[in-house]
Amino acid sequence: GLPAMAAAPRKIPFGAAVRGGALTADAAYGAALAERCRLLVPEGGLKWAVLRPNRETFDFGEADQIAAFARRNGLGLRGHTLAWYGAMPAWAEAITSRVEAEWMLTSHIETVVSRYRGFIGSWDVVNEPMPDKPASPQDLRHFVWSKTLGADYIPIAFKAAHAADPAAQLVLNEYDVEFVGQRFAMRRAGILAIARSLLDRGIPIHAIGLQGHLFADRAIDRDGLQSFLREIKAMKLDVLVTELDVIDFGLPTDFATRDALIAKKATDFLQAVDEVTPPSAVLTWGITDRYTWVPIYFTRPDGTANRPLPLDSDLRPKPLMSVIERF
Ligand code: XIL
Repeated sequence: GLPAMAAAPRKIPFGAAVRGGALTADAAYGAALAERCRLLVPEGGLKWAVLRPNRETFDFGEADQIAAFARRNGLGLRGHTLAWYGAMPAWAEAITSRVEAEWMLTSHIETVVSRYRGFIGSWDVVNEPMPDKPASPQDLRHFVWSKTLGADYIPIAFKAAHAADPAAQLVLNEYDVEFVGQRFAMRRAGILAIARSLLDRGIPIHAIGLQGHLFADRAIDRDGLQSFLREIKAMKLDVLVTELDVIDFGLPTDFATRDALIAKKATDFLQAVDEVTPPSAVLTWGITDRYTWVPIYFTRPDGTANRPLPLDSDLRPKPLMSVIERF
């Protein structure tokens, strides 16, 4: 059964992704985060596109704001992310030589990680290295760093992060590793291959992050996920759930029915993970349906709002909140 059934429930640190703009505009949102979370992670504030408006300057405005909020409220902070295809500024397309790429990537990581040394305890160093549909486990997503540095961009990034904060937990973060199907099995194999190659070369990596963007109507490959986790455990790496939410694209309109199915899907996932290796943290990708990335990508056909997160748009807890709080 769920750990909820245990006499003394463990408390896995729970956290959520945060938007700086909403923190400024919406006091109730900040209060909900402070009340529910032990950990925060900026949803966008530490991405390249936000930090690097141009080649010469860094803009730490939003990241510093969120760090100050975390500090004020006694919360821990995770960092997301140092190398990701999804939020590169346009000017970075001009990086084409190997030497320049290595310098840009390394100096960026050095500047950002050392700024929060001792405060950001855990970093998503490399995010989503696998292509959507890898042709083989060795296949990597094509973007500026893999185009210029090949597969070496990954060890380069982990080495730079470790040099900048030797105490930080360094995480390889990926999505779509939990579902039924060949494409997901290939993605799992790819992540294991990357982790193994880092360890073989003596390069520090400490954990695998499972994003956990679940689809309420998509089957979880319990066996596939659990054997993946056993491999991770055998490598002595930790596991974190970094971006949990449940995409309710295909679910019925009725809120109670929908919320129950969402909670069930999250329970199945967390339980499968926990049976093999209890996650060292569970973070949802936002705390409230008021601020979620889901509708931008997965608008519901019936026109009702998505309900992927632990609190509804009025900040009231839903069944998903209880699942996580009991976990
Ligand atoms: C998303 C944010 O939530 C959106 O607000 C933004 O527009 C795009 O990025 N996987 C990740 C996150 O690792 O960084 C993504 O965040 C969601 C998917």
